[in-house]
Amino acid sequence: GAAVEVDIGALSPGQKMTVEWRGKPVWIVRRTKEQLDALKSNDADLADPNSDRKAFPIPGYAKNEWRSLKPEYLVVVGICSHLGCSPSDKFQPGPQASLPDNWHGGFLCPCHGSTFDMAGRVFKNKPAPDNLEVPPYTYLSDTKLLIG
Ligand code: FES
Repeated sequence: GAAVEVDIGALSPGQKMTVEWRGKPVWIVRRTKEQLDALKSNDADLADPNSDRKAFPIPGYAKNEWRSLKPEYLVVVGICSHLGCSPSDKFQPGPQASLPDNWHGGFLCPCHGSTFDMAGRVFKNKPAPDNLEVPPYTYLSDTKLLIG
């Protein structure tokens, strides 16, 4: 499929943009320092914290605690690994309906309640078996991303 060039220059910390790649939504989230710092505290509650599973082989450059090439920018396919719904943004930390009390921010799938952290990693004991897919991508410059 055709690669997609994306200008991420206008993305502020804490914001997300969505682009289409091969008919799928790809999310790009510019994470804040607080969001990055909070990732570690989720590890014990995640099904596959280090992205070791093979269902969605993760590109080598994203096999790290941020699941991304550059820590600040998360790039994932926005499709739940359960039955393919698109999770909603739940970036706000703290108690909220359908979310654990110690919620640090992430995504909630509206279909059957699977939750993902700000690195797209799925929480344990949820219907979704796997983390969100990381598509192949590279940076053409500081503000230009090539997906695919
Ligand atoms: Fe997301 Fe079922 S499709 S939890």
